[in-house]
Amino acid sequence: MTVTTAEWERLAAAAWAVRSHAYAPASGFQVGAAVLAADGRAFVGCNVENASYGLTICAERAAVCAAVAAGARDLRAVAIATALAVPATPCGACRQVLAEFGPDLEVLLLGDHGARQLTTLAVLLPAPFTFARLRGAQTAAGTDVGS
Ligand code: THU
Repeated sequence: MTVTTAEWERLAAAAWAVRSHAYAPASGFQVGAAVLAADGRAFVGCNVENASYGLTICAERAAVCAAVAAGARDLRAVAIATALAVPATPCGACRQVLAEFGPDLEVLLLGDHGARQLTTLAVLLPAPFTFARLRGAQTAAGTDVGS
């Protein structure tokens, strides 16, 4: 189902708003994310850094966790806000976590001065690891070159 202009604007506003709550004393790089669930609800997350750097939680994963905690497991879209001239793409870990609940996710990247890029998770993460594969699904992710 295509995301409407009104839904994108709602997600974009939510991503920018939550970005202001980002806790980023280490990097100073604030990120806001808003996911749209199939039932129409939106959930937000911001990055939360830690003095033990590796424990940092990215905005996208925080938003996914908020959605799942509220019972929303079918995600349609995500908007990600960063104050960059060319908007940031989600990190690899976030792409994998987004794929768990939104394999067909549409992605809107938001940056400074109204910069916007529209893409999909399928473009950003073409061959995610999935529970289906874990259970033995035979989807090829590369060219068979034998043994
Ligand atoms: N960050 C996110 O929140 N999402 C991403 O997809 C990339 C990185 C955060 C983590 C850290 O707090 C800061 O951005 C710099 O890497």
